[in-house]
Amino acid sequence: MKALILSGGKGTRLRPLTHTGAKQLVPIANKPIIFYVIENIVATGIKDIGIIISPETGEEVKQTVGNGRRWGVNIQYILQPEPKGLAHAVKVAKKFLGNSSFLMYLGDNLLGADIEEFRRKFVTEKPEALILLKRVENPSSFGVAEVDKKGQVKKLEEKPAKPKSDLALIGVYLFSPEIHKVIKTLKPSPRGELEITDAIQQLIRQKKRVASYIVDSWWLDTGKKDDLLKANTVVLDERIKRNIEGKVDGESLVTGRVILPKSAQVINSEIRGPVVIGEKTVIKDSFVGPFTSIGSEVKVEKANIEHCVILDDCRIKKIDNLQDSLIGKRSVVKKNDRKRQNFLRVSLGDDSVVEI
Ligand code: G1P
Repeated sequence: MKALILSGGKGTRLRPLTHTGAKQLVPIANKPIIFYVIENIVATGIKDIGIIISPETGEEVKQTVGNGRRWGVNIQYILQPEPKGLAHAVKVAKKFLGNSSFLMYLGDNLLGADIEEFRRKFVTEKPEALILLKRVENPSSFGVAEVDKKGQVKKLEEKPAKPKSDLALIGVYLFSPEIHKVIKTLKPSPRGELEITDAIQQLIRQKKRVASYIVDSWWLDTGKKDDLLKANTVVLDERIKRNIEGKVDGESLVTGRVILPKSAQVINSEIRGPVVIGEKTVIKDSFVGPFTSIGSEVKVEKANIEHCVILDDCRIKKIDNLQDSLIGKRSVVKKNDRKRQNFLRVSLGDDSVVEI
């Protein structure tokens, strides 16, 4: 079996961060989202992974991910010249996929479950497709499935205005090569894309077997719902182990599950995990509370922060109580020390939100 990761897209922005790069490279607990995807795939024993990239962000993805050697797998890149949909991506990858069954994984989907179980179900039951589903409160934002009591999928609809169930299609699918035949017959959807949901619906119409699996674990479609902070909290909660390699001076206290790399420093501060801290970051005269990820080369000084995601190269200085905040690369958040300037001074990027 092969795996296909979709990491295309123009990388225009991931709200509320103005992010011109690939959304799949946005860090969750200081690790790019696509690395979690790759690790999940590698754990199933799949060795051949194709990554669909776009002309806009492909180079950045290639540079960050590499050839797969670090995970002991082969990674190839496949260019999708235009974002014409998920089924179009499969079409573009046909040469790579050949006649293999494959696991398709959207590169911005984070899943708490181990996917080996789903792969095994696919291999033993041999359906033409296996889809993963999750009960959600806002099914209209996703592909939606109607399923009978045995888990056979009766009908799929892409982002229906009036959803017939609350079962959303997770961006992880298993396919036999049969899918290529139906993709050939697809017409673009109202949003102008070749939808994988429509391709699977065609299989159902042709009475081919489409199995489903309702996932209990958490699932986050990070590209869509602005919930980077939520993803950060979940991942810190479940996956972080204490590892203190950096310098912690005698005046500091680091408790709980905290990752502090060798090049980072804690000076006269308290860190209470779960917290991850990036390379060359310095925390001085500060308190860093639970569920905080701080990127590389950040300086936190005389600040009190908790439940925050702070990306690389930021400065946080003399800030009393920063919570539930998402701070993009190279941002500066500091107290205005000048006297008689009793006003707020900000310089914000697109889609910023300031709550005072
Ligand atoms: C895609 C699929 C949709 C699925 C979602 C999961 O949507 O078309 O069926 O529920 O991924 O992340 P898109 O992200 O392209 O809007």
